[in-house]
Amino acid sequence: MLKIGVLVSGGGSNLQAIIDGVKDGYLKDCEVAVVISNVDSAYGLERAKTNNIPAYVVRKKDFQKGDIESYDKALIDILEKHEVGLVLMAGFLTIVGTTLVKKYENRMMNIHPSLIPSFCGAGYYGLKVHEKVLEYGVKVTGATVHFVTDEPDAGPIIIQKAVYIQNDDTPEILQKRVMEEAEWIIYKEAVKLFSENRLKIEGNVVKVI
Ligand code: GRF
Repeated sequence: MLKIGVLVSGGGSNLQAIIDGVKDGYLKDCEVAVVISNVDSAYGLERAKTNNIPAYVVRKKDFQKGDIESYDKALIDILEKHEVGLVLMAGFLTIVGTTLVKKYENRMMNIHPSLIPSFCGAGYYGLKVHEKVLEYGVKVTGATVHFVTDEPDAGPIIIQKAVYIQNDDTPEILQKRVMEEAEWIIYKEAVKLFSENRLKIEGNVVKVI
Protein backbone atom coordinates (compact mmCIF):
# COMPACT_ATOMS: atom_id res chain seq x y z
CA MET A 1 0.00 0.00 0.00
CA LEU A 2 1.41 3.38 -1.04
CA LYS A 3 0.58 6.02 1.55
CA ILE A 4 0.35 9.49 0.07
CA GLY A 5 0.76 12.79 1.89
CA VAL A 6 -0.63 15.88 0.15
CA LEU A 7 0.50 19.44 0.89
CA VAL A 8 -2.04 22.16 0.04
CA SER A 9 -2.58 25.88 0.53
CA GLY A 10 -5.80 26.53 -1.34
CA GLY A 11 -8.73 24.94 -3.10
CA GLY A 12 -7.29 21.47 -3.23
CA SER A 13 -8.85 20.45 -6.55
CA ASN A 14 -5.74 18.41 -7.36
CA LEU A 15 -6.01 16.75 -3.95
CA GLN A 16 -9.62 15.93 -4.89
CA ALA A 17 -8.51 14.39 -8.19
CA ILE A 18 -6.17 12.07 -6.26
CA ILE A 19 -8.85 11.21 -3.67
CA ASP A 20 -11.27 10.41 -6.52
CA GLY A 21 -8.60 8.32 -8.26
CA VAL A 22 -8.23 6.22 -5.13
CA LYS A 23 -12.00 5.94 -4.65
CA ASP A 24 -12.82 4.90 -8.21
CA GLY A 25 -10.06 2.29 -8.30
CA TYR A 26 -7.79 4.05 -10.83
CA LEU A 27 -5.10 4.27 -8.12
CA LYS A 28 -4.82 0.74 -6.79
CA ASP A 29 -3.03 0.00 -3.51
CA CYS A 30 -2.86 3.73 -2.81
CA GLU A 31 -4.29 5.75 0.04
CA VAL A 32 -4.28 9.47 0.81
CA ALA A 33 -2.98 9.07 4.35
CA VAL A 34 -2.63 12.70 5.39
CA VAL A 35 -3.20 16.27 4.20
CA ILE A 36 -1.14 19.18 5.48
CA SER A 37 -1.74 22.88 4.87
CA ASN A 38 0.20 25.99 5.83
CA VAL A 39 -3.05 27.98 5.79
CA ASP A 40 -5.98 27.50 8.21
CA SER A 41 -8.58 28.49 5.64
CA ALA A 42 -7.43 26.16 2.84
CA TYR A 43 -10.48 24.45 1.37
CA GLY A 44 -8.31 21.39 0.82
CA LEU A 45 -8.58 20.78 4.59
CA GLU A 46 -12.37 20.52 4.24
CA ARG A 47 -11.95 18.02 1.44
CA ALA A 48 -9.72 15.95 3.72
CA LYS A 49 -12.26 16.03 6.54
CA THR A 50 -15.12 15.08 4.21
CA ASN A 51 -13.11 12.04 3.18
CA ASN A 52 -12.00 11.10 6.72
CA ILE A 53 -8.37 11.88 5.96
CA PRO A 54 -6.29 13.23 8.88
CA ALA A 55 -5.56 16.92 8.26
CA TYR A 56 -3.04 19.25 9.87
CA VAL A 57 -2.14 22.92 9.68
CA VAL A 58 1.55 23.80 10.03
CA ARG A 59 1.84 27.59 9.94
CA LYS A 60 5.05 29.32 8.93
CA LYS A 61 4.38 32.06 11.46
CA ASP A 62 4.65 29.56 14.32
CA PHE A 63 8.35 29.19 13.50
CA GLN A 64 11.19 31.68 13.76
CA LYS A 65 11.50 33.77 10.62
CA GLY A 66 13.84 32.05 8.19
CA ASP A 67 14.00 28.79 10.17
CA ILE A 68 12.99 26.61 7.25
CA GLU A 69 14.73 23.58 8.73
CA SER A 70 12.44 23.47 11.76
CA TYR A 71 9.44 23.92 9.47
CA ASP A 72 10.63 21.03 7.32
CA LYS A 73 11.10 18.87 10.40
CA ALA A 74 7.56 19.60 11.58
CA LEU A 75 6.25 18.45 8.19
CA ILE A 76 8.48 15.36 8.25
CA ASP A 77 7.23 14.39 11.74
CA ILE A 78 3.66 14.32 10.46
CA LEU A 79 4.53 12.57 7.21
CA GLU A 80 6.49 9.90 9.10
CA LYS A 81 3.72 9.45 11.64
CA HIS A 82 1.45 8.54 8.74
CA GLU A 83 4.11 6.36 7.05
CA VAL A 84 4.01 8.43 3.88
CA GLY A 85 5.90 7.00 0.90
CA LEU A 86 4.99 9.70 -1.63
CA VAL A 87 4.57 13.43 -0.98
CA LEU A 88 2.48 15.51 -3.38
CA MET A 89 2.72 19.27 -3.43
CA ALA A 90 -0.62 20.42 -4.75
CA GLY A 91 -0.70 24.19 -4.76
CA PHE A 92 1.48 24.40 -1.63
CA LEU A 93 2.45 28.04 -1.63
CA THR A 94 5.23 28.16 0.90
CA ILE A 95 8.93 27.52 0.60
CA VAL A 96 10.24 24.21 1.88
CA GLY A 97 13.91 23.49 2.48
CA THR A 98 16.62 21.01 1.70
CA THR A 99 15.79 18.89 4.75
CA LEU A 100 12.36 17.95 3.38
CA VAL A 101 13.53 17.73 -0.23
CA LYS A 102 16.40 15.36 0.65
CA LYS A 103 14.25 13.25 2.95
CA TYR A 104 11.77 12.58 0.13
CA GLU A 105 14.21 12.70 -2.78
CA ASN A 106 12.56 11.08 -5.82
CA ARG A 107 9.48 10.55 -3.64
CA MET A 108 8.07 14.08 -3.76
CA MET A 109 6.19 15.53 -6.73
CA ASN A 110 4.81 18.94 -7.64
CA ILE A 111 2.30 20.05 -10.25
CA HIS A 112 2.83 23.31 -12.11
CA PRO A 113 0.24 24.90 -14.44
CA SER A 114 2.48 25.49 -17.46
CA LEU A 115 4.77 23.54 -19.74
CA ILE A 116 8.08 23.74 -17.83
CA PRO A 117 10.62 25.29 -18.53
CA SER A 118 8.27 28.04 -19.74
CA PHE A 119 6.38 30.26 -17.31
CA CYS A 120 7.77 28.76 -14.13
CA GLY A 121 10.14 29.53 -11.25
CA ALA A 122 10.10 32.48 -8.85
CA GLY A 123 6.93 34.58 -9.09
CA TYR A 124 5.05 32.13 -11.31
CA TYR A 125 2.20 30.83 -9.21
CA GLY A 126 -1.58 30.82 -9.34
CA LEU A 127 -3.26 33.11 -11.84
CA LYS A 128 0.05 34.90 -12.55
CA VAL A 129 1.19 31.95 -14.65
CA HIS A 130 -1.84 32.19 -16.92
CA GLU A 131 -1.64 36.01 -17.11
CA LYS A 132 1.96 35.74 -18.35
CA VAL A 133 1.05 33.00 -20.83
CA LEU A 134 -1.70 35.18 -22.36
CA GLU A 135 0.50 38.31 -22.30
CA TYR A 136 3.27 36.52 -24.16
CA GLY A 137 0.86 35.21 -26.75
CA VAL A 138 1.99 31.59 -26.84
CA LYS A 139 -0.54 29.31 -28.49
CA VAL A 140 0.05 26.24 -26.36
CA THR A 141 0.30 25.96 -22.59
CA GLY A 142 -0.44 23.05 -20.26
CA ALA A 143 0.68 21.44 -17.04
CA THR A 144 3.72 19.60 -15.76
CA VAL A 145 4.23 17.05 -12.99
CA HIS A 146 7.82 16.85 -11.82
CA PHE A 147 9.91 15.53 -8.96
CA VAL A 148 10.84 18.19 -6.43
CA THR A 149 14.46 19.30 -6.10
CA ASP A 150 16.03 22.29 -4.35
CA GLU A 151 15.40 24.55 -7.34
CA PRO A 152 11.77 25.66 -7.81
CA ASP A 153 9.99 23.96 -10.75
CA ALA A 154 13.26 22.49 -12.03
CA GLY A 155 13.20 18.84 -10.98
CA PRO A 156 12.95 15.88 -13.38
CA ILE A 157 9.78 16.06 -15.46
CA ILE A 158 7.42 13.10 -15.15
CA ILE A 159 4.43 14.00 -17.35
CA GLN A 160 3.31 17.04 -19.35
CA LYS A 161 0.05 17.70 -21.14
CA ALA A 162 -0.65 20.49 -23.60
CA VAL A 163 -3.69 22.79 -23.61
CA TYR A 164 -4.38 25.11 -26.56
CA ILE A 165 -5.02 28.81 -26.05
CA GLN A 166 -8.35 30.12 -27.35
CA ASN A 167 -9.19 33.65 -28.52
CA ASP A 168 -11.53 34.47 -25.67
CA ASP A 169 -9.32 33.09 -22.89
CA THR A 170 -8.91 35.14 -19.74
CA PRO A 171 -6.44 34.07 -17.02
CA GLU A 172 -9.38 32.67 -15.03
CA ILE A 173 -10.85 30.73 -17.96
CA LEU A 174 -7.45 29.38 -18.92
CA GLN A 175 -6.64 28.37 -15.33
CA LYS A 176 -9.85 26.36 -15.19
CA ARG A 177 -9.23 24.68 -18.54
CA VAL A 178 -5.62 23.80 -17.67
CA MET A 179 -6.89 22.17 -14.49
CA GLU A 180 -9.70 20.25 -16.17
CA GLU A 181 -7.85 19.23 -19.34
CA ALA A 182 -4.42 18.62 -17.87
CA GLU A 183 -3.72 18.88 -14.14
CA TRP A 184 -6.43 16.60 -12.76
CA ILE A 185 -5.55 13.97 -15.35
CA ILE A 186 -1.76 13.93 -15.26
CA TYR A 187 -1.27 14.17 -11.50
CA LYS A 188 -3.06 10.92 -10.90
CA GLU A 189 -1.30 9.34 -13.90
CA ALA A 190 2.06 10.23 -12.35
CA VAL A 191 0.98 8.79 -9.00
CA LYS A 192 -0.20 5.60 -10.70
CA LEU A 193 3.14 5.18 -12.51
CA PHE A 194 5.03 5.80 -9.27
CA SER A 195 2.87 3.32 -7.36
CA GLU A 196 3.54 0.69 -10.03
CA ASN A 197 7.29 1.36 -9.81
CA ARG A 198 7.37 2.40 -13.46
CA LEU A 199 9.34 5.66 -13.16
CA LYS A 200 13.04 5.32 -13.82
CA ILE A 201 15.11 8.43 -13.10
CA GLU A 202 18.31 8.89 -15.08
CA GLY A 203 19.87 12.21 -14.10
CA ASN A 204 17.30 14.82 -14.99
CA VAL A 205 15.37 12.49 -17.28
CA VAL A 206 12.48 10.32 -16.13
CA LYS A 207 11.65 7.30 -18.26
CA VAL A 208 8.38 5.42 -18.03
CA ILE A 209 9.12 1.70 -18.06
C1 GRF B 1 -2.80 24.41 -9.46
O1 GRF B 1 -2.98 25.21 -10.59
C2 GRF B 1 -1.44 23.80 -9.42
O2 GRF B 1 -0.93 23.52 -10.68
C3 GRF B 1 -0.63 24.90 -8.77
O3 GRF B 1 -1.49 25.47 -7.83
C4 GRF B 1 -2.85 25.24 -8.18
C5 GRF B 1 -3.50 24.52 -7.04
O4 GRF B 1 -4.88 24.32 -7.25
N1 GRF B 1 0.62 24.40 -8.26
P1 GRF B 1 -5.69 23.37 -6.28
O5 GRF B 1 -5.47 23.87 -4.86
O6 GRF B 1 -5.19 21.96 -6.46
O7 GRF B 1 -7.13 23.52 -6.69
